[in-house]
Amino acid sequence: MGIRIYKLAEQLELSNKELIKMLQDLGVDVTSHMSTINEETAELIMDMVLGEEEGTQEDDSKVLKVEGTMTVKELSEEIDVDPSTLMAKLIGLGIMATINQELTSDQLEVVAAEYGYVVEEEEEEEEDNLFGLVNDIEDKQKDLKSRPPVITVMGHVDHGKTTLLDAIRKTEVTASEAGGITQHIGAYQVKVNGQKITFLDTPGHEAFTSMRARGAQATDIAILVVAADDGIMPQTIEAINHAKSAGVPIIVAINKMDRPNAQPDRVKQELMNHGLIPEDWGGDTVCVPVSALKGENLDELLEMIVLTAEMEELKANPTRPANGIIVEAELDRGRGPVATILIKNGTLKVGDAIVAGLASGRVRAMINDQGERVEEAGPATPVEVLGLSDVPNAGDLLEVVEDDQSARDIAQKRQNKRREDELSRNTTVNLEDLFSQI
Ligand code: GTP
Ligand code: MG
Repeated sequence: MGIRIYKLAEQLELSNKELIKMLQDLGVDVTSHMSTINEETAELIMDMVLGEEEGTQEDDSKVLKVEGTMTVKELSEEIDVDPSTLMAKLIGLGIMATINQELTSDQLEVVAAEYGYVVEEEEEEEEDNLFGLVNDIEDKQKDLKSRPPVITVMGHVDHGKTTLLDAIRKTEVTASEAGGITQHIGAYQVKVNGQKITFLDTPGHEAFTSMRARGAQATDIAILVVAADDGIMPQTIEAINHAKSAGVPIIVAINKMDRPNAQPDRVKQELMNHGLIPEDWGGDTVCVPVSALKGENLDELLEMIVLTAEMEELKANPTRPANGIIVEAELDRGRGPVATILIKNGTLKVGDAIVAGLASGRVRAMINDQGERVEEAGPATPVEVLGLSDVPNAGDLLEVVEDDQSARDIAQKRQNKRREDELSRNTTVNLEDLFSQI
């Protein structure tokens, strides 16, 4: 296994002679462009060449910051060159452009280089904006009404997250509805003393992270489930870190208390090691011992959730157009793309034009956590939405926009951007690709 000199030279835009000279300077025994070198040496050379390029760019060149694209006129202003001179230069480079024409990023790069500029695309910012909310207007204080808290259950594998969620749901179902209800969607609401609480079933760590990466805070309170017979485990620590960096309060459910080898004090001790000091030990972390399996002490857990939520003073504006977060989404054979959405703010209505990630559409129907059709859904409500053109990703933001056309336009713009990103990713030099060519 090795790579031939001429291939590497081609990729690095060096002449064979230059590359051979570099290698010989490094003490590598090469004679012709057909010689092969090993992977490490190739990597070293790539670092040297590409690293050097970056170095010179930073040292000698002026930086031209470009957000998206730039017209000839904008470029002329930016680099302070007379537009007609610039256009003449462009023609010299084989680019026939009018003054208001947008230059492609390749064209920009070439012409900017002529004037000693290096183009720096302000990509990240654009990505964020592009996939962020379009109409993130600020709410007036008087429009804000209190809303249910959104709770995410986190913890180590097998510590009882699903059992706990099921148990909470069951208490509610049997207490309030006759006959039991089938769970339809991956999020649900329960009522405790008349106060609604929304539970998110799905966010695994990944969804949690991707939501946070988009600046969307899905959760108000994290329930950390720790099995009393197992204690703090790697994923417990991960969950603690996630909740801490998201700045959400943590309530610890010390689960499996029915087990004979349950050691709640050991759990508390371990929590202390991770900066969570239990309330009864003088700290401010609420710990509730429960048995999800036996349904024991869940009332107290729910009460603690309500109390914590009250202190958070959670508010939203139900009168504005909705925005929310995709909790999960799939392609249903009969119904097309189906997305479970947690409404963050505003009220979503049947008939609203919506955009979610790369998908757009119009709300055709909404189904609540009881499996009933609803006409509208307010803040902190989970609903299933039908009517999107494609299946969005968990963590994508959903937003109501003015009309179908703007929904389509925004989605199209995002799709184009995504495609561009993918293409540019595929054209960067990759060592593995180089080797696979031989
Ligand atoms: P993953 O989704 O795989 O991460 O697990 P999980 O945290 O959702 O755990 P799950 O609810 O699936 O429970 C794992 C096992 O622990 C199951 O066999 C449950 O029956 C059992 N279990 C959960 N809660 C209790 C409890 O309070 N007491 C006892 N004895 N067993 C429990
Ligand atoms: Mg589970």
